[in-house]
Order: sequence, then structure tokens, then C-alpha cells
Amino acid sequence: MTVLDLTIDEVLTTTRAVRKRLDLERPVERAMIEECLDLALQAPTGSNQQRWHWIVLDDPEVIGQASEIYRAAMAQYSADIATGREQYERQTVRAEQMSESVAYLRDNMHRLPAMLIPVLVDRFGVLRSDRAQTFHHASQWGSIIPAVWSFMLALRSRGMGSAWTTIHLHREQEMADLLGIPYDTHIQAGLFPIAYTLGTDFRPALRHPATEVTAYNHWNPAWK
Ligand SMILES: Cc1cc2nc3c(=O)[nH]c(=O)nc-3n(C[C@H](O)[C@H](O)[C@H](O)COP(=O)(O)O)c2cc1C
Repeated sequence: MTVLDLTIDEVLTTTRAVRKRLDLERPVERAMIEECLDLALQAPTGSNQQRWHWIVLDDPEVIGQASEIYRAAMAQYSADIATGREQYERQTVRAEQMSESVAYLRDNMHRLPAMLIPVLVDRFGVLRSDRAQTFHHASQWGSIIPAVWSFMLALRSRGMGSAWTTIHLHREQEMADLLGIPYDTHIQAGLFPIAYTLGTDFRPALRHPATEVTAYNHWNPAWK
């Protein structure tokens, strides 16, 4: 195990979405992935119930098939935005889909040494229904997202990188069929590339400072 000489604050501020700087030639040992997962699994979960499963893809054939699903989902999403069928953050998504980095990941995903698909057990059996309330969403997603982010931080601390991706979920059932995930009761949280990074010098991103997005004791009416 090699841990980079980074402080906690440096890891927290420099864990970026890595796409073009993923080392597609260098294998990642299963032991490294399991080490990062063991760290991630310390994350909190609602009612202390770890209703999750983690599927690591490291067979090039399976990675190739999963990458095809990712590509097809992205093509479908772009088409839906173009025709106005998909409204979700229209401008942002448009800008991002044109980004070279996003296209690079899409076009090179099949070359990745490994990827991770976190799977959430639909505890209340409601997430796919219109009965799901904010409570259900917050409790369920809040019981996997902290672990996934910890996984990304653990990768970063060991000279590896990832990018949070959700685009394949437009074809979630296809991925479930490919990997044998019981679709009706299990929900995929995303798809996370795993690779060593080309270099380890990543910088903090531009963000509005806390003082601009924080209020004390009351909502800020200027936020609308
Ligand atoms: C919920 C979520 C979904 C995302 N989906 C994708 C995706 O499908 N494909 C992709 O290339 N990046 C995806 N990203 C990565 C974001 O584009 C990236 O995190 C953002 O541009 C900020 O960059 P940074 O993480 O380096 O700060 C996603 C990120 C999040 C948090």
C-alpha cells in the first residue's frame, strides 16, 4: 500500500473528477480496491444498516460491455436534450457533454483497468415508485453516497482517481441484466472508473466560498 504524502485537507480539496488523467495502461490490483472499499464501508448509514453491495468490474470483456451501455446511455441523453424531452439542468448538461474530458471518458472507458458500481438495496421498496417521499430518498441515498465519496477519497490518497458518473442509469436495467443485479429491488448509484492517475498533482476547484452560500439561523431571502 502506498499512501501519498497529502494532508486530509489536501485530499478533501483535490479529489477531482479525473477523466483524461486516468492511467489506462497500468493495472490496479484487487487488493488496492478492497483496501479502499474497506475504508469506504466505515461511512454512516441510516439505522446502521449497510444495505449495499459493491460490484467491481475488472474483466476487460465485462468492462467493454458496460462501456457500451454507458456510451449508448449518453447518446440517448444527448438526443433527449436536443429534442427537449430531457429538461434536467439543460444548459449545464449541454455544456458538459461538449467538454472534451467527458467525451474522452466515454470514448476510452473500455480501456479502464477497473470500475465500480455501488448497489443500494431498496429498503422500503418505494424508490422506483411515485410513493417515495423526501424521507425515503434522503435516507436511502444518504446511506450510500457518503461511502462512495469515501471510496473516491481513498483512491485519491493512494494515487488513483475516479469520476462520479450517473449517465448509464438511463439504461440501468441493461446494466442490471449484464451484471445479474436484481433490478426490481436493487438500485445502482452510478458508475465509478478506477485507475491510477497520470501524476498526482490535482488542484482545488473554483467554488463559491462558504460565506456566500451559508446563512445563520434563517433562510436568506436573497436566495429566492
Ligand atoms: C451526481 C453526479 C453525476 C455525474 N455524472 C457524470 C457523468 O455521467 N459523466 C461524467 O463524465 N461526469 C459526471 N459527473 C462528474 C461531474 O461532471 C464533476 O464532478 C463536476 O464537473 C465537477 O468537477 P470536480 O468533481 O472535478 O470538481 C457527475 C458528478 C456527480 C456529482
